Amino acid sequence: MSTLALIGGTGLDDFDGAQRVRSADATTPWGDASAAPVLLDIAGAQAWFLPRHGADHSLAPHAINYRANIAALQAADAQQIVAVAAVGGISAEMQPGRIVLVDDLIDYTTGRDHTYSDGPDAPLQHIEFAPPYDAGLRERLLLAADAAGVELIDGGVMGVTNGPRLETAAEIRRMARDGCDVVGMTGMPEAALAVEKRMAYAGLAVVVNPAAGTADGPIHAAIEQTLSAAMRDVRAVLRALIGAQQA
Ligand code: HPA
Repeated sequence: MSTLALIGGTGLDDFDGAQRVRSADATTPWGDASAAPVLLDIAGAQAWFLPRHGADHSLAPHAINYRANIAALQAADAQQIVAVAAVGGISAEMQPGRIVLVDDLIDYTTGRDHTYSDGPDAPLQHIEFAPPYDAGLRERLLLAADAAGVELIDGGVMGVTNGPRLETAAEIRRMARDGCDVVGMTGMPEAALAVEKRMAYAGLAVVVNPAAGTADGPIHAAIEQTLSAAMRDVRAVLRALIGAQQA
């Protein structure tokens, strides 16, 4: 049975109700991961957990060492990754509190270390990246959500910006024209690096605010209230997925 890893984002810096079994090495040939991956026992089933922004949530999206994070999970023998990220909602259906099992992405990031094909000794790879997310893992997440009684939006395009600032209204209008449904800051290069490492990768995007210019009022007002309720649902989906893996 292949081993699952969870990458937690804003609102999922730890996993309530799980027992820590052991930690893996945070140090990799690409530098240090955001934290040491921890093997969790969640109701009798095991999965690795890595908080993307660090255990104390101190790493900004552009400062995360994505290469080290993916390499640390692979070194811990994880073969599949479910990555959770808070996002802003762009299209009408993507209201705060909704959880989206994204099925495509557009990368607007710049200046991030975005490939392992880097340096004289690294083999050059042109990975296939359409689709970026693993179909089998997406299917199992849909089944897990069903079992947990949590409604996911099946499909959506995530635009990934550099941050840490939020977008202008004009940037969001452009992203909407491009076909983006939600906007986050951490989905890339994480997804591509996982695929370079031949790991199955899927993304759960939790809508925590309307993107800039799509609703009245400051964006941050909505985030805190929505986040904890939605993350309870995300944990329920992940528990069901992990339980089904080991069943
Ligand atoms: N934009 C970019 N990233 C985000 C947002 C947003 O509105 N909300 C949460 N992550």
